[in-house]
Amino acid sequence: GSVPVICVDGPTASGKGTVASAVAAALGYHLLDSGALYRITGLAATRAGIPIDADHAGQIAALIAQLDITFTPDQRVLLDGEDISLAIRSEEAGMNASLGSALPAVRQALVQMQHDFRQLPGLVADGRDMGTVIFPLAPLKIYLTASAAQRAQRRHKQLIEKGIPATIADLRADLEARDARDMNRATAPLQAAQDALLLDNSDITVEEAVAQVLAWWEKRQ
Ligand code: C5P
Repeated sequence: GSVPVICVDGPTASGKGTVASAVAAALGYHLLDSGALYRITGLAATRAGIPIDADHAGQIAALIAQLDITFTPDQRVLLDGEDISLAIRSEEAGMNASLGSALPAVRQALVQMQHDFRQLPGLVADGRDMGTVIFPLAPLKIYLTASAAQRAQRRHKQLIEKGIPATIADLRADLEARDARDMNRATAPLQAAQDALLLDNSDITVEEAVAQVLAWWEKRQ
């Protein structure tokens, strides 16, 4: 199609969300935070009392079809009108998202919703399988990484700033467990697309990472 998509995939807390939203803002493009869809799914299933496992994948997929999800321009997330922006950011919500995301029926139920984000003048999509599965023909794919130590430290700083207590050691264990599951699942595992450009942002600033993505994008034009 003629609507350009920039994919930003990578492991947990690698800076994807921050970089993707800054790139989208710089270009005036739409933003898809696909992880939020899996987090909302986990929250909705938990609230409905549906266990997040293979036996209930069909039930969760049916639930997804009924969800009323809104992303506001100021990046808040509404579920049936309720602001759940904070509720979906907890470590528990991340783990529930990862559990549900391993179920093929759940992934399938979210495909159309993700494609619908692709609108003029363009889209920046962040997740695990944007470049490999959802937008395989995207003209620019970034695989954004950072060391586990850096990622745990950044996540820690974010949580402390929000007043949520956590230890770096616990966070690192959590994110490594989540990455292992995301990388080893059979359906749409986390991996760099063959044509992805690797960007390790362990030792560079957010501004430098954003500038690199924008420079690559300019070269593609
Ligand atoms: O990126 P975020 O941490 O919000 O994603 C939460 C979880 O959702 C991930 O650990 C992963 O299991 C799942 N996810 C996915 N595919 C995506 C985005 C997120 O499986 N495109």
